[in-house]
Amino acid sequence: MKILVTGGTGFIGSHTCVELLDAGYEVVIIDNLSNSKKEVVSYIERITGKKVSFYENDVCDKDALRKIFNENNIDAVIHFAGYKAVGESVLKPLMYYRNNLDSTLSLLEVMDEFKVKKIAFSSSATVYGKPNSLPIREDFPLSTTNPYGTTKLIIEGILRDLYNSDNDWSIAILRYFNPIGAHSSGLIGENPNGIPNNLMPYIIKVATGELDCLGVFGNDYDTHDGTGVRDYIHVVDLAKGHVKAIKKILKDNGCDAYNLGTGKGYSVLDLVNTFKKVNDVDIKYQIKERRKGDIDACYADPSYAYEKLGWKALKDINEMCKDAYNYVKKEDRK
Ligand code: UFG
Repeated sequence: MKILVTGGTGFIGSHTCVELLDAGYEVVIIDNLSNSKKEVVSYIERITGKKVSFYENDVCDKDALRKIFNENNIDAVIHFAGYKAVGESVLKPLMYYRNNLDSTLSLLEVMDEFKVKKIAFSSSATVYGKPNSLPIREDFPLSTTNPYGTTKLIIEGILRDLYNSDNDWSIAILRYFNPIGAHSSGLIGENPNGIPNNLMPYIIKVATGELDCLGVFGNDYDTHDGTGVRDYIHVVDLAKGHVKAIKKILKDNGCDAYNLGTGKGYSVLDLVNTFKKVNDVDIKYQIKERRKGDIDACYADPSYAYEKLGWKALKDINEMCKDAYNYVKKEDRK
């Protein structure tokens, strides 16, 4: 079975390619490298001992997509490619709508042309907006607070409409909570350039000395220690969830959404303290103002994914913190 992975050199995409290859699937990647590096392809190959077909193209480019579908017998697609920075999306909404929607529409149109009607889509827990209660179930009301989140919600709607128009489609919408960690080899992981938006990449840059001090955005939330609570999930567990989703859509038609989270919530300070403990490093931090748009707490009820996909997260917060730091410390990957 051959799976096309859009955005396959990105953080979640690369880990998913490894799990797909380990599970015996063939992998074709399309990525324009706008937020990743080509070397990732060779790291995926090194980890798995298997070959990957790589196309350096934009998913908005329908001719490039047609070439890929002509050259490969694609059985299903996992669609990761897209812009993902919440703050940037507020400043550049048109860029976000153009890119995330255009790429998805181009992909779906070309899939339809080639009669490949099986897709797993990268959505996000951001589509739950500010949940009324916790843990979050898939049938909770959906709303968003920023253009990035809105692109995810619009695409979920497009996929549902598509399935309703043609029941031959088989669609898994995967709503990620907060992926962190890295592959245990230390070859692939996350270490964005510049000042990170997300908590774990920021902690890592303080640990390596690239940044002085972490700003903790608010300590007056309604949580056990006042700092924001999130459902951090090891990226390898998340990647394995994609393999389960692919198995499901290759078998059954339908359009369904699944939470991919652990079901456990940890605060900002829980994460900082765990990182310090397992890696034996100091992380200086300072309490700052709340970040606009942040919510007190967010964690999944992951039981539907277990029931329907037979998937659940296995790795704990200690392993997430250890693997995340191991990736940036590892020098011999170059
Ligand atoms: N935080 C800090 N300091 C920082 C960065 C973050 O205290 O420098 C706090 C935030 O206030 C929040 C927690 O750490 O309480 C997690 O923040 P992240 O930015 O790491 O993650 P978010 O939960 O805000 O957002 C993430 C993804 C989004 C996605 C969302 C889904 O970045 O793309 O999860 O719930 F939409």
